[in-house]
Amino acid sequence: MLQNIIIKVLMIGQDIQTAKQYLDNGQLVAIPTETVYGLAGNALNEKAVLAIFKVKQRPSFDPLIVHTDSWDKLHQFVTEVPEQATLLAQHLVPGAITFLLPKKSIVPDLVTSGLPLVAVRIPAHPLALALLKTLAYPLAAPSANPFGYISPTTAQHVAQQLGDKIPYILDGGACQIGVESTIIGFEGGVPTIYRKGGIAIEVIENLIGKVQLQEHSSSNPKAPGQLKSHYAPHTAFELLDRATLLKKLSDTPHKNKLAILSFQDYVSAVPLENQRVLSPTGSFSEAARHLFAYMRELDALGCEAIWAEQVPDVDLGRAINDRLRRAAAR
Ligand code: TXA
Ligand code: MG
Repeated sequence: MLQNIIIKVLMIGQDIQTAKQYLDNGQLVAIPTETVYGLAGNALNEKAVLAIFKVKQRPSFDPLIVHTDSWDKLHQFVTEVPEQATLLAQHLVPGAITFLLPKKSIVPDLVTSGLPLVAVRIPAHPLALALLKTLAYPLAAPSANPFGYISPTTAQHVAQQLGDKIPYILDGGACQIGVESTIIGFEGGVPTIYRKGGIAIEVIENLIGKVQLQEHSSSNPKAPGQLKSHYAPHTAFELLDRATLLKKLSDTPHKNKLAILSFQDYVSAVPLENQRVLSPTGSFSEAARHLFAYMRELDALGCEAIWAEQVPDVDLGRAINDRLRRAAAR
């Protein structure tokens, strides 16, 4: 009987060769990036790609980002690169920016959900880059969370939710940026941001001039990455500006059953252990780095609700507000 018992052991480590062996074998490995952890598989292997959708419980109409380690290699997967993309790449790659470009047929339709464009990104994380360099194929990798939940920014976050479904997590420490990449496309020659992310729009506009913003839609899967309810904790989640939050708080009797996620300052009357401050100094990059971990911590408290404070809507604050808004949209 004993030989029939298969014990699945999840391994967490920093061994690129181990990760490579699983990936070469068509299996999935969680990988660190500077934005969030990814659930990675061989992007050119349909079975591996199917496994990603299955493990993540992601609908097949929501396409995946293809990761590679150099701008030169990117040309293996796309038919053309507009000048603006090249210019952005010169300054921002490797980094938290994903390019939507016309795909070559080598990229399975499964990866792009049948769309003619493929999303490609070169992550700025030394372990991810070292792994990608040793591979003969690019990696398809969505954020390594169950579909609709908060993205993971540590190996432990991944282990908590997908630990029984994958053999290996490559541990690259806590993610330095903390929100997903900015997604940009160039359809009709117009640079368009489809997801606000780790590279601020201001930085992009400084390099290539004015860009368009494609607003979110929950109904149109062709509008990429834009399912409205996303990043959602299990606890009821509300997004408020600070004045409204404080007013509401003064009207609420059950203050000790509330959790508060604020930008710079604690609020009074709510127990401190139920509060997280994103950045006491008001730094957007610090706030982004803490965002998802703090949302998870507050979600684990079992409070009746989490009230989050909107941050100023500039710079990385726009990506932070976008995640908070979508967490609240359920
Ligand atoms: O920072 C990131 O981008 C992380 C790390 C792991 O690289 N990845 C990530 O992947 O956030 P994911 O799958 O959670 O979000 C990617 C978004 C999806 O919402 C998807 O709709 C959009 O990118 N996307 C991917 N391929 C697309 C395509 N061909 N056309 C339009 N949108 C696409
Ligand atoms: Mg995601």
